[in-house]
Amino acid sequence: MFRKWMAAVAAVALGGTLAACGSGGASGDDETLTMGFSQVGAESGWRTANTRSIKEAASAAGIELKFSDAQQKQENQLKAIRSFIQQRVDVIAFSPVVETGWDTVLLEAQRAGIPVILTDRAIDSADDSLYETFLGSDFVEEGRKAGRWLAERHADADSVSVVELQGTTGAAPALDRQQGFAEAIEGSNIEIIASQSGDFTRSGGKQVMEAFLKSHDDIDVVYSHNDDMGLGAIEAIEASGRTPGEDIEIITVDAVKDGMRALAAGRINFIVECNPLLGEQLMDLARKVVAGEDVPKRVVVEETTFTQAEAEKVLPDRKY
Ligand code: AHR
Repeated sequence: MFRKWMAAVAAVALGGTLAACGSGGASGDDETLTMGFSQVGAESGWRTANTRSIKEAASAAGIELKFSDAQQKQENQLKAIRSFIQQRVDVIAFSPVVETGWDTVLLEAQRAGIPVILTDRAIDSADDSLYETFLGSDFVEEGRKAGRWLAERHADADSVSVVELQGTTGAAPALDRQQGFAEAIEGSNIEIIASQSGDFTRSGGKQVMEAFLKSHDDIDVVYSHNDDMGLGAIEAIEASGRTPGEDIEIITVDAVKDGMRALAAGRINFIVECNPLLGEQLMDLARKVVAGEDVPKRVVVEETTFTQAEAEKVLPDRKY
């Protein structure tokens, strides 16, 4: 299986400075496929569900998974990818912490003849031959969904002041959710009065919200790039003597169980779903890529949104 992809890459690599090395994966066995996976970290409920999905799907598909947790640091991901190259895995998959700075290491993988799959988050590179496919959500659309809901809900208000809890600086979901939301509220009565990164963590969301509450007494809405930061903001709002969901409305992204519980309880007002259950699709793409089959360059995950009433209905069957 592995050799089909190698043959295609070798044709390209022969013209370059380095020839593709190795003729098989780490397993040395044509049937057992080995995947090196570099995960962002364990910053959120979403990430925990995503990691579980990948580990379960690998084991169900009989794929040997070499899993590495980058603890939200790009340097750790670069090290992990280089180590996967050295171990000559059959395929590398990773969810990039930030968008930029990947070309060199991905070129090294390409020259070693190891295909790369991006999952969850995209990279910003002019060379899309550096990866085979990108499986993940449309983060810009997620931001638009949040903005559209808010603009419709407050269409008759004179003005609406929003504070934005951004994800990790430079990460695709932070950049794209900001962009989509800004697009959707353009020309409306909604204004973003403050915006800061809470690094996608609950403690980060709480800390930033505490600072926002000290410096702004006119906050109507919190737009949080994920549930965890929104849940942290709830703690800060309650500690300030205000009622989340009423005195200050909250919109988040993800729809993990903790977020959905808060939504059903009226402490969050609207959640845009971001589906973390990517494991099965990832393993399927990995098998195809290694077998040299054509795969789409972009695979978008289908997602929905939830109001408070909808959250109450779906909560009992929520998988993550
Ligand atoms: O990349 C997906 C985002 O990363 C999720 O929305 C967030 O919770 C996570 O940390």
